[in-house]
Amino acid sequence: MKIIMLGAPGAGKGTQAKKIAEKYAIPHISTGDIFRANIKEGTELGKKAKAYMDKGELVPDELVCDLVVDRISQADAKNGYVLDGFPRTIPQAEALDAALEKINEKVDFAIDVDVPDDNIINRMSGRRACVSCGGTYHVEFNPTKVEGVCDACGGKLILRDDDQPETVKNRLEVYHAQTQPLIAYYTEKNILKTVDGTQDMAKVFTDIVGILEV
Ligand code: AP5
Ligand code: MG
Ligand code: ZN
Repeated sequence: MKIIMLGAPGAGKGTQAKKIAEKYAIPHISTGDIFRANIKEGTELGKKAKAYMDKGELVPDELVCDLVVDRISQADAKNGYVLDGFPRTIPQAEALDAALEKINEKVDFAIDVDVPDDNIINRMSGRRACVSCGGTYHVEFNPTKVEGVCDACGGKLILRDDDQPETVKNRLEVYHAQTQPLIAYYTEKNILKTVDGTQDMAKVFTDIVGILEV
């Protein structure tokens, strides 16, 4: 099962992708997480990506596409995967399709987690991310057992650098200009499914499972 998660920043792509990956035992591949891991390790890629991410801009396609094509060709991805945060531009979608076509495969579902901009701003200010494992929480909607400490690994929780309100606004603009056109792209391919991302997390997941198991 090859699944793409679409949706604005903060729509809940990562939250749902993690649940999908667990339920269906397929890898959760988040380009944002890959970049953040590279930033933490101080790699060349991380240094390049950080400059864009901190401003809320997209990392250039050429730094993203090969990385993802390489990742999905690894052994653990042979039964499928859930892509979170990729593709994010039409050229990225085309690069993915071209790579899959070469091996006679295709994406099965593009799931759009739909949340209006107003809700997004709220969510982002309450999000907390684990510096060690990347786990994501929310102070109100998904709190940890101990404040400021990751339930999964005991790591420290922080507000992500790009979750400052001004940066969130720019990320939303970038989303509408560069990523939203993918909705039409996947509608045309007949694989777009939309879920109401304003519902609580468990209900959103139930809806997604309903789509995947028709
Ligand atoms: P990335 O890490 O992908 O960020 P994003 O798309 O902006 O999305 P987020 O991770 O912020 O949100 P999410 O949808 O995963 O929501 P979450 O589940 O955390 O990318 C970061 C940056 O990297 C980009 O800006 C770009 O610079 C670069 N980049 C990455 N991929 C790229 C690519 N392909 N090309 C170019 N550049 C790329 O949920 C948000 C919060 O809400 C959490 O606190 C959560 O607990 C809470 N929440 C979730 N669901 C619900 C719910 N149903 N009700 C209430 N609260 C909820
Ligand atoms: Mg995410
Ligand atoms: Zn953690």
